[in-house]
Amino acid sequence: MEKLFINIKSLVGVLDPNVVQKKGAELQELTQIEQAFLKVKDGQIADFGKMSSLTDHPTDAVDLQNKIVLPCFCDSHTHLVFATTRENEFVDRIKGLSYEEIAQNGGGILNSAKKLQAASEDELFKGAKQRLNEVIHMGTGAIEIKSGYGLSTQAELKMLRVIQRLKQISPIDIKATFLGAHAFPMAYKNNQEGYMKLLTDEMLPLVAKENLADYIDVFCDRGFFSQNQTERLLEAGYKYGLKPKIHANELDYSGGIQVGTKHKAISVDHLECTGEGEIAALQSSHTIATLLPSTAFFLKLHYPPARKMIQAGLPIALASDYNPGSSPSGNMHFICSLACLYLNMLPEETINAATINGAAALELAHSHGSITKGKKANFWVSESINSVKNIPYGFGRPQLSAVYINGERFTGF
Ligand code: NIG
Ligand code: FE
Repeated sequence: MEKLFINIKSLVGVLDPNVVQKKGAELQELTQIEQAFLKVKDGQIADFGKMSSLTDHPTDAVDLQNKIVLPCFCDSHTHLVFATTRENEFVDRIKGLSYEEIAQNGGGILNSAKKLQAASEDELFKGAKQRLNEVIHMGTGAIEIKSGYGLSTQAELKMLRVIQRLKQISPIDIKATFLGAHAFPMAYKNNQEGYMKLLTDEMLPLVAKENLADYIDVFCDRGFFSQNQTERLLEAGYKYGLKPKIHANELDYSGGIQVGTKHKAISVDHLECTGEGEIAALQSSHTIATLLPSTAFFLKLHYPPARKMIQAGLPIALASDYNPGSSPSGNMHFICSLACLYLNMLPEETINAATINGAAALELAHSHGSITKGKKANFWVSESINSVKNIPYGFGRPQLSAVYINGERFTGF
């Protein structure tokens, strides 16, 4: 089936197939074709170019009325399977408690784990499906989803099965990450070694046996998993074919970046605490530095030094971290606004970081993240705006008039 889209004001994010990520100064290059058309065939991008080069077009061509077209966002870090929201902790923080104090009192991740353990697989599936619909409607066209609110063998497997069911029916590609090492459960507070054993000797083999995960993640940070524990878990993950994508250096200089790069992580994510040593480790690796500015925004943390990272030539990806505790939103437009305001990234840099580099952090850059012949026809159409700069500029405004997934207008699934 062929479909033609005409009268595109600007077709943004056009890339050659051999470009699989943008590093350093390349992040500023956002190729656009003005007054363009786009042709889709069998769910893939078949052709594009200048309207002036179109000799004829069918009567059923979709007239995009001088709006901007962008590749869908590739959100490479989310926790969108959860049982309940945590607005009470939000209020506790307004009243003065810190995120870490809430966690130490059994709130935070452990609170989510308690609720998730009590929820049925069907309930979790229903909620996650709704959130997945929500983010696709906001322009997300590929996504990663983590476990990590189970923290027991049974509950971690339940979460991963929910993600597997979503994979089977979702119109967008999903990558699943096993994050059993998100926190030490209360019962193992004084027996960390016992939980490490449960992770490596019981959970990991079962996750691998049922083929439930693409990656392994560890929350390597102060008060959570140490550098040494992370290293052991990543080594165990490799034995079962799971590459790492890890949480690192959100709360402290945890050594997470170094352990991630040493173990060839696809990405290290968060990175609020990044200094010269961490940047050097990233420079000598192929690991993508994924920044999650909505977490720093929502928890009032200091932001990672994105400009220094870009100057150092690193590939930066942006993701939402959608989760009930530290980023209860998966709105990638807002992520781009935050990245401009607080990471001092240019609008063009944020779009590249949220599309092609997000795709790279999902190992999907061959099929997602840009307007390229042969890639999935996952793109979104703006409202009437002047330029791509309006996308991060008009924060919180409705920016989007339509989303197309596999070339079809997305209306929900
Ligand atoms: O990515 N940092 C660790 N994990 C999540 C937050 C989890 C939560 O508070 O529920 C994050 O921010
Ligand atoms: Fe996270």
